[in-house]
Amino acid sequence: MIVVNFKTYREATGYRAINLARVCRKVQEDTKIRVVAVPQLADLRNCVETGVDCWVQHLDPVEQGKNTGWVTVEDVEEAGARGTLLNHSEHKLEMLTLEKTMQLIGEMAFEACICAGSAQEAEVVASFKPDFIAYEPPELIASETQSVASARPDIIEEVVKKVGYPVLIGAGVKSVEDVRVGVKLGAKGVLLASHVVLAEDPEQVLRELARGFKN
Ligand code: G3P
Repeated sequence: MIVVNFKTYREATGYRAINLARVCRKVQEDTKIRVVAVPQLADLRNCVETGVDCWVQHLDPVEQGKNTGWVTVEDVEEAGARGTLLNHSEHKLEMLTLEKTMQLIGEMAFEACICAGSAQEAEVVASFKPDFIAYEPPELIASETQSVASARPDIIEEVVKKVGYPVLIGAGVKSVEDVRVGVKLGAKGVLLASHVVLAEDPEQVLRELARGFKN
């Protein structure tokens, strides 16, 4: 699977987010590789309406009721989100906060992908029983020269072995080879942003990356 984090990139905001969501759906339909779009909240419903699977970039540990300015799992689920990233290196959470958020998701049919910047952190967050763990060394995010696959194959292998949950890998992912190496090391997919979101032709880039899952 390929998870495309739209982040707060201008190139993935508003109508551009909808266009990118359409690209994600089309590539999934044609390649049969699951592609998840992760837009900003204000673009969520419009992206859901393109038919693509959507996750949100973050959830808050608050219940429905007397709270102002927070994001609840019930609200984003009702808007069509299928899941969420949590603890991304660009939106780190205290472990207690992460635990409370996972408790609020509870038994809902709602996917939780917890991000971890190291094998040690991956082992800690595995205790919250997520659907996916995304291993992303922060220092390689948006790198133009390296990727998690080329620079940290040993850590990928260690995370896959240790956590006992489906692992996504991210940070600098930009080539079919990055995907192939990740799959070979036991990852279920990749979590990426800049290489697709900032591409001249995101569809062509996404199709190319999807080839990495075909043997
Ligand atoms: O959430 C994925 C993101 O942090 C990876 O960023 O630009 O290195 O693909 P990028």
